[in-house]
Amino acid sequence: MGKTILITGGAGFIGSHVVRWFVNHYPQYQILNLDLLTYAGNLENLTDVEHLPNYRFIKGDITDEHLIESLFAEYSIDAVIHLAAESHVDRSIMDPLAFVRTNVLGTAVLLNACRQHWNADPEKHLFYQVSTDEVYGSLGPTGYFSEHSKYDPRSPYAASKAGADHLVRAYFHTYQLPVVISNCSNNYGPYQFPEKLIPLVIRNIQQNKPIPVYGKGENVRDWLWVEDHVRAIDLIFHHGKRGETYTIGGNNEWKNIDLVKFICRLMDEKLGRAPGSSERLITFVKDRAGHDQRYAIDASRIRRELGWEPSVSFEEGISRTIDWYLSHQQWLEHVTSGTYQQYYEQQYVIR
Ligand code: NAD
Ligand code: DAU
Repeated sequence: MGKTILITGGAGFIGSHVVRWFVNHYPQYQILNLDLLTYAGNLENLTDVEHLPNYRFIKGDITDEHLIESLFAEYSIDAVIHLAAESHVDRSIMDPLAFVRTNVLGTAVLLNACRQHWNADPEKHLFYQVSTDEVYGSLGPTGYFSEHSKYDPRSPYAASKAGADHLVRAYFHTYQLPVVISNCSNNYGPYQFPEKLIPLVIRNIQQNKPIPVYGKGENVRDWLWVEDHVRAIDLIFHHGKRGETYTIGGNNEWKNIDLVKFICRLMDEKLGRAPGSSERLITFVKDRAGHDQRYAIDASRIRRELGWEPSVSFEEGISRTIDWYLSHQQWLEHVTSGTYQQYYEQQYVIR
C-alpha cells in the first residue's frame, strides 16, 4: 500500500542509505527527505536517486516548528523515520548545546507535529526513532547491551540521544503515539563523513598524515556494515512492535588499535606500499574526554523475532569501504573543504 514517509537527516551517512533503500525497494511509497544540509549533509550522497518520481528533497531544520507544521499540513505524512541529528561525539564535547538543540528539541518538534496530525491509529502511522547504543553508557570487558539495559549516557551526544529516546517513549505512553526505537552500534561504509574513525584513518593513510589514536587505542566498538543497519530498519519499520525497542549490532568487536592496524595492512596492499608503511603513521594522542571503554550489542531479539542478521563480513565490508573511498576522491574533497578543515585543526593540532 502507498505511504508518504518523512525521512529526516536523509542527506547524511546512514540517512542517505535509508533513503536509497526505501526509494528503490518501495516505489509505491513517497519518500520526503528533510535535511538541513549541515556540514554532515550532502546531496551528492543521493545523486543516483534524486531523479526518481517517488523521491523529494526538502531543505529545512527539524527544530523549526513552523516548517514542520507546514510540511504536515501540506503532505499527508503517514510515518516518520527520524535520523537527523548532530552525530559526532568529539563535536558534542566542543559544543554541547548544538546537540541539545537538534537532538532533543528537534525530536520534540517532530513528535509534537505527529501528535497533532495523527489520530494515533497504530495500523496507519509510525514514528521511528533511529538511536544509538551510546545511550547505555560504557561496558567493562564482559557483558552486552540489550533492550533491557538501563540508560546511562556519558557524553553530551549520548545524553542528547537519550533525552530524545525518552521523549519518544513519553509520547507513546502519554498520547499513545505509535512509536518504535532502535539502538544500533557503530556503522561503517560508503558516504560516512571522514571525522569518524574508519574514513579518517583511510584518508590520513592516503595522504601520509598521522593517524590519531585516542589514549592507548584499547577502547572497543562493535562495527556493523551500514546496509545491514538499513535492512534492520526496514524490518523494524514494517514488523516491529509499537512502543518497543530493538538493539542492533554486528557481533563484531574490535579494539581501536587492532582495527587501525588492520586498515593499515589493507591500505598497504591496495596502494602497493611496502608492508608496515601505514602503521608508521599511527600516533597516540590525548584521550577523548569521558571516553566510553566498550560497546557491544546483544542483537538476539531482532534475530529471533524479525529474522535479521548481519550479511556482510567485516573483512569484506572494510575492503569495500576502502575501495569506495579510494575511488571517490572528489566526494572527499568536497566534504572536507571549508569548515571541516577548521574542525580538524582544532581537534587534532591545537591540543
Ligand atoms: P550524520 O552526521 O552523517 O548525518 C546527520 C544528518 O542530519 C546530516 O545530513 C545533517 O545535515 C542532518 N541534520 C543535522 N541537523 C539537522 C537539523 N537541525 N535539521 C535537519 N537535518 C539536520 O549522522 P549518521 O552517522 O548518519 O547518523 C544518523 C542517525 O543515526 C543519528 O540519529 C545517529 O544518532 C544515529 N546512529 C548513528 C550511528 C553511527 O554509527 N553513525 C549508529 C547508531 C545510530
Ligand atoms: O555506537 C554508535 C555511535 O558510533 C554513533 O551513535 C555515533 O553517531 C558515531 O559517531 C559512533 O560513535 P563513536 O564515538 O564510537 O565513533 P568514532 O568513529 O568517533 O570513534 C570510534 C572509536 O575510535 C572511539 O573509541 C574513538 C576512537 N577514535 C576516534 C577518532 C575520530 C580515535 O581513536 N581517533 C579518532 O581520531
